[in-house]
Amino acid sequence: MDNPWWHRAVVYQIYPRSFADADGDGMGDLRGIIARLDHIAALGVDVIWLSPICTSPQDDNGYDISDYQDIDPLFGTLADFDELLAAVHDRGMRLVMDLVVNHSSDEHAWFQQSRAALNSPKRDWYWWRPARAGMEPGTPGAEPNNWGSVFGGSAWEYDPATGEYYLHIFSRKQPDLNWENSEVREAVYAMMNWWLDRGVDGFRMDVIDHISKDTSLPDGAVPQGSLYGVGAPHYMNGPRNHEFLHEMHERVFAGREPLLTVAEMPGVTIDEAIRYTDPARREVDMVFQFEHVFVDRGPDPWLLYPLRLPVLKGILGRWQAGLADVGWNSLYWNNHDQPRVVSRYGDDSPEFRVRSAKMLGAILHLHRGTPYVYQGEELGMTNAPFASIADFRDIEALGHFAQATEHEGHAPEDVLTVLRARGRDNARTPMQWDDSPQAGFTSGTPWLAVNPNYTDINAAAAAADPDSVYHFYRKLIALRHEEPVVVYGDFTMLLPDHEQLYAFTRRHDDVELLVIGNFSGERVRADLPSAEAWAGAELVVSNAPAPTDFDLEPWQVVIYRRRA
Ligand code: GLC
Repeated sequence: MDNPWWHRAVVYQIYPRSFADADGDGMGDLRGIIARLDHIAALGVDVIWLSPICTSPQDDNGYDISDYQDIDPLFGTLADFDELLAAVHDRGMRLVMDLVVNHSSDEHAWFQQSRAALNSPKRDWYWWRPARAGMEPGTPGAEPNNWGSVFGGSAWEYDPATGEYYLHIFSRKQPDLNWENSEVREAVYAMMNWWLDRGVDGFRMDVIDHISKDTSLPDGAVPQGSLYGVGAPHYMNGPRNHEFLHEMHERVFAGREPLLTVAEMPGVTIDEAIRYTDPARREVDMVFQFEHVFVDRGPDPWLLYPLRLPVLKGILGRWQAGLADVGWNSLYWNNHDQPRVVSRYGDDSPEFRVRSAKMLGAILHLHRGTPYVYQGEELGMTNAPFASIADFRDIEALGHFAQATEHEGHAPEDVLTVLRARGRDNARTPMQWDDSPQAGFTSGTPWLAVNPNYTDINAAAAAADPDSVYHFYRKLIALRHEEPVVVYGDFTMLLPDHEQLYAFTRRHDDVELLVIGNFSGERVRADLPSAEAWAGAELVVSNAPAPTDFDLEPWQVVIYRRRA
């Protein structure tokens, strides 16, 4: 079989509400995206992934969909969508939609019908359960099991109309669909086919390793100090997950031109990822794993843990090795759920922001897999200076803050310190286009404050500066398109225990690359086992003056090429 096109591709993620606002309501929209497409095309990416734009009460910023086959009026209309799709295709790019089908909105007609009566024909489309045996429905502790929701509070909502509870792993406005019911699955496949027939080029599948649950819904273990049990082992990568994704493939993707499917899977292991992405099993093309974005977390959710570079390398190195022969990796530092990587694993101070953002980009893009760039990452956008909880908009941040401060006895200032470092709103501040008011994002009042550093960090300034993060990303993307070794080369980690350097080689046919990144603010010399072999090698990319004897500047990255 030929290598699929997405092996060579780079994907750019747009979070529509924060990208560009054409109508001045403070919220990004489709016409705003159309107007800014040239910025993305000039970066050289191949695919755009749009976070959800379908009709939604916006409880979780569109990850709560009430009509899968229409566009939310905040973002525009289906006619705007068709125009956007055509404009993306005209520029030689493809468009991938977000598929949010572990849950719908509670305002979706399916759920409205489901909740209407115990004998509703759609009752079984969601997870309804009576109160715990012997308990009075609706009283504390009477929930069908002890699971906590991802956003704080119980994962069950009592519905007095029928005296039962429904399951919501996320917010109470995101009831989980019951994939055990084949009518649910067929309805989802029909909707996916409708989008593909309209011309979209694939799907990013939201928390798609949650769709198969242990149908006995057992209690989870309760961590110390927590009010709720951990349900994840009973709803992640459940018994029928592979079966469902294979069935989806048969019903939706088989017989079509090759598309791109990427499955968001917070709990996925390498062994499972091999199975999910083995082309012979016909499930999905690649998965988003989470291990490398959990390295700065630890047992206490309200403590910050420093990045330990050997651990990060251990994780990404294992994923490279694990999917070397079968399956395929996705590569990302950022998305709409993660803090900005330059503030997290780099140094966002004026001295080193640009250099460390470039280093992080080069390390990621030189791994084997399909890289994802999240809007603003190509500018080196940073975390935001949230002053108080009132500055946050994210349902997760607000839910965790309430649970931690009101029910678990944490001091608000401690919780804020963690939210400032980790909160999802860091990624969601408006895109910084130029140094005009509101960063050129909107002529109105933005739904989430613009990061005040937009006067320095913005797309117009980056485009005008040949040394910007933006032009460096263009170079990395071009290198991938020109050099087969970047796409297909095998991967060998060097210096795995080194605390400051991230070094590896890639090799394909007779071409070999050496990549070394300095994850520290100090000069560091790389003692490579194979140093002499690289003596005459060509320096293809660097974010600082060429080093002598692999003596790297703070946050420097170098990419050398040689022919064997
Ligand atoms: C995914 C999305 C996240 C959302 C959640 C529930 O993790 O990326 O933004 O809150 O699913 O849909």
